[in-house]
Amino acid sequence: MPSDIKDAKLAPVGKTKIEWSDRHMPVLALIRERFESDRPLAGQRISACLHVTTETANLARTLQAGGADVAICASNPLSTSDEVTASLVEDYGVSVFAVHDASRDLYYKHINQTLDHKPTITMDDGADLVFTVHTERRDLLENILGGTEETTTGVIRLRAMADDGELAYPVVAVNDARTKHLFDNRYGTGQSTVDGILRATNMLFAGSTVVIAGYGWCGRGFALRARGLGAHVIVTEVDPVRALEAQMDGYRVMTMAEAAPLGDLFVTLTGDIRVVRGEHFELMRDGAVVANSGHFNVELDLDALAKMAASRRTIRPNVEEFTLADGRHIYVLAEGRLVNLAAAEGHPAAVMDMSFANQALTAAYLSAKSDTLENLVYTVPRDIDDEVARLKLRALRIDVDVLTDEQVEYLASWRMGT
Ligand code: ADE
Repeated sequence: MPSDIKDAKLAPVGKTKIEWSDRHMPVLALIRERFESDRPLAGQRISACLHVTTETANLARTLQAGGADVAICASNPLSTSDEVTASLVEDYGVSVFAVHDASRDLYYKHINQTLDHKPTITMDDGADLVFTVHTERRDLLENILGGTEETTTGVIRLRAMADDGELAYPVVAVNDARTKHLFDNRYGTGQSTVDGILRATNMLFAGSTVVIAGYGWCGRGFALRARGLGAHVIVTEVDPVRALEAQMDGYRVMTMAEAAPLGDLFVTLTGDIRVVRGEHFELMRDGAVVANSGHFNVELDLDALAKMAASRRTIRPNVEEFTLADGRHIYVLAEGRLVNLAAAEGHPAAVMDMSFANQALTAAYLSAKSDTLENLVYTVPRDIDDEVARLKLRALRIDVDVLTDEQVEYLASWRMGT
């Protein structure tokens, strides 16, 4: 089985960590059980480009249980766990091409090796597989039924491809399922971003001023958790409705130029490019800490910062100190890569449970129904989204009320009401 991993001997450590995650992923475990008998992915070849974590390992096991032949590469070189890759290969027979901290060249080589698997379904986190298929590997298109996309940034990329008429197979935006973004993006990013910043710096949030760029679901989640730890939160936004929402949620809202001199910690969660630029670094206090929790490492203009710096050094793991000509210091976390996965372990398993349940059920949906789809970006079917919520509630032993017959009738009738 072709693979490229760091060290197969790490497998025993990886296996117990995967088992620990599995304990917190009951929905995925239930789907795995169903997949074992129904085999909805029999005959499918899945190439996946995801963060290679313990949670992803449990998704791979589930896809395999459904009958799929699975190959995986990393969607970010810093989030790969070499222990997990070892166990996936040694214990679970998954083809893996991922090494922690891989160079750019190796990262793209791994994407291509994962595509050599000749997928019928692609599974992306950031759309790198879809992009590579459409640019360099068009020969693979004839076998591909469809794809899935895990994250906001990837969905934005895919919609741009579809708008240009360039998308050559249907892709389902798993990110847009309510049981994905309302939980993973909000509570997953919220907690894991705090986790990454604390592991890197051990800084005190209480009483500090935290500037958050972007008030999408990730920004909202991180703002909640930063405030919960006692920080004074400032939000910067470009969308007027979101800006208003942040204001009425009780945060201060202003431009990045206004916030730059005030912040102790700056975190970008926008999905856009150069959100914190040279003109902002110019205004920051001595000791300001800067991090990114968006998918790609493009949100902080680190080239501008490097040009402004008289010197730089790594002061502790994942913390680089830039000393500016005027003597101020600015600290960049995890090279501006997504801090929650580069400096911590990403979202907790209990929230990835729902995201990856959507991935598994959507792969089965593509396997059965792709011939009814056009080359567009689709949302996850409502019944899958609702099923994931129902299964999660069941796992949490929570019952909810059901509508009475009268209530059903009332909601369906425009004559009743007053
Ligand atoms: N994205 C964010 N957190 C993740 C995790 N723990 N595993 C896989 N993908 C993720």
